[in-house]
Amino acid sequence: MRVDVVTIFPAFFDVLEVSLLGKARGAGLLDVRVHDLRDYATDRHRSVDDTPYGGGAGMVMKPEPWGAALDAIIADAATAPTFIFPSPAGELFSQRTARELSDAEHLVFGCGRYEGIDERVFAYAATLGDVRLMSLGDYVLNGGEVASMAMIEAIGRLIPGVVGNPESLVEESHENGLLEYPSYTKPASWRGQDVPDVLLSGHHRRVAEWRREQQMTRTRTRRPDLLPPSS
Ligand code: ADE
Repeated sequence: MRVDVVTIFPAFFDVLEVSLLGKARGAGLLDVRVHDLRDYATDRHRSVDDTPYGGGAGMVMKPEPWGAALDAIIADAATAPTFIFPSPAGELFSQRTARELSDAEHLVFGCGRYEGIDERVFAYAATLGDVRLMSLGDYVLNGGEVASMAMIEAIGRLIPGVVGNPESLVEESHENGLLEYPSYTKPASWRGQDVPDVLLSGHHRRVAEWRREQQMTRTRTRRPDLLPPSS
């Protein structure tokens, strides 16, 4: 998968070198290219923002540098990409979205700062590929960088070969609409706390039932919004 990122803070993405995604890049499974939006500014000060039409607080990102950056990315793209603009005003990003996007050949993350990006940039990007405004949740970050990092990790780890044991992807939170069951390792007793007996029993069916119950109880208490209204 090819991933382009447009940002005024390229250094944010240095951490993609480490850990699992760093290995995925090394193995050629993930081709990440980070672009500094200021390289596409046309004035001496390399400015990328201006005051909003209609007034109001804050600054808005100018369309021209964005247009030039997207054109440069498209120039050597093999297929029409999907553009993802992190935004608290976007659709909610979920495990389902991550799965859907993990099939894509080419994703472009556009990281906005200030009060947002001139709205015409989204319409322009829509002439080049699919466009999705994506929110991580109902809170506000200072910009799209941290949100893009989170989405790149959630999507990247679903690319076949990135996570060593694909079984571990099946058993985790949100994959079956429920929260994950609790996990334990040795020692069986630690600081007065014992691992539940059933997990030491070697009885596979009972372990599976217990885990399923734990998933239901956790989901009901922590995230009842995930369950259908009838349950
Ligand atoms: N940018 C600022 N806040 C955000 C959020 N909650 N999700 C995605 N992008 C954002």
